[in-house]
Amino acid sequence: MTAQPTAARRPSHAVVGAGFAKQLFGRPAERRLRAALDEGLERVERVLAEQVRYADEVAQVTTTYLLDAGGKRLRPMLVLLTAQLGPDPVNEELDLAAAAVEITHLASLYHDDVMDEATLRRGVTAAHLQWSNSTAILAGDLLFARASQVFSELGTEAIRLQADVFERLVLGQMHETIGPREGQDRIEHYLQVLADKTGSLIAAAAVYGVMLSGAPDEYKAAMREFGEGVGVAFQIVDDVIDLSPDHGKTGKLAGTDLRAGVETLPVLLLEQRAERGDADAADLLERIRTRVAGTAPGSADPTLARPEAVGSADEDEIAAIVAELRDHDVTRETLEAAQAQVRRATGALDALPAGVVREALREFAERLVNRDF
Ligand code: FPP
Ligand code: MG
Repeated sequence: MTAQPTAARRPSHAVVGAGFAKQLFGRPAERRLRAALDEGLERVERVLAEQVRYADEVAQVTTTYLLDAGGKRLRPMLVLLTAQLGPDPVNEELDLAAAAVEITHLASLYHDDVMDEATLRRGVTAAHLQWSNSTAILAGDLLFARASQVFSELGTEAIRLQADVFERLVLGQMHETIGPREGQDRIEHYLQVLADKTGSLIAAAAVYGVMLSGAPDEYKAAMREFGEGVGVAFQIVDDVIDLSPDHGKTGKLAGTDLRAGVETLPVLLLEQRAERGDADAADLLERIRTRVAGTAPGSADPTLARPEAVGSADEDEIAAIVAELRDHDVTRETLEAAQAQVRRATGALDALPAGVVREALREFAERLVNRDF
């Protein structure tokens, strides 16, 4: 088993925006929906360019840096897709919400890369290395402010949801940074972190589509559940992709999370095995903690419990340890956990009327977990 989720069984679909929509909805009956999404994504791209615009040159350059570097636009697509559940599936408010959700995501990436000491994002040098930590954080703040301005035009319910999401994004990052409480189940803690830092915004994207298209209110709870499940699954897969050696596809350095000392699900499952007496698992875990964690380029995270690990391993050794984890059974178990979240997400779709939108949402969830990008 390799860390590239089902790469052998599925064609590579390292694509962005409309290209992803095309792959999602290939059957004839879905063509109208696909065309609506393609057109919607083009409009959202234009709205993004209009909204991420500043008279101040420094603001303009720093905020458009990662916007222009790419991105899959999955969240905007989800807004447009769930909007198809309502009587008014195409309108300006939906396009603004789709763009603002993407801007919020973008803002969080600037901050996240500082915290993770990431070197690459979307195939380009991370913003904090391009400029400085402070500049990257401030660019993220500007984007978050801009997203809030857009949502404030869409009514109280829309801006309230954005505020709730912001709080959960921050709580997710905070709990990830600080780690579980004494005696707290580490896997439970991990799943809560993922629900907060990723599930909340994806769930909101699905809810905005319902909210702004005039779809029945009762779909909101189902879309929240769907989005959270998809988000957690997405992030679990992301943690596996973090182990991928293919920089071209992921745009990130293999083992970025491990190097930053973030213990993702493969590591937690390794720990569980070690606690149950698996000596090989214990040995690999020990090497991850002492030879990889804390070796992210740049200064060590002072909150790391093992600062003595900094600089103690060379790149070849780190790569070998990352590869060993990638090929371990715990990585297969991790992907199974992602599948379980997809089942949770698709189960929530039962609340929707049968039809092409419900099937497209199901496909969306299943494709995401089987992606290799
Ligand atoms: C990526 O996780 C990070 C997130 C999904 C959320 C980050 C949230 C914040 C920094 C707080 C919110 C801040 C603002 C301004 C909205 P990851 O590191 O596991 O994924 P990666 O591999 O893509 O880096
Ligand atoms: Mg990160």
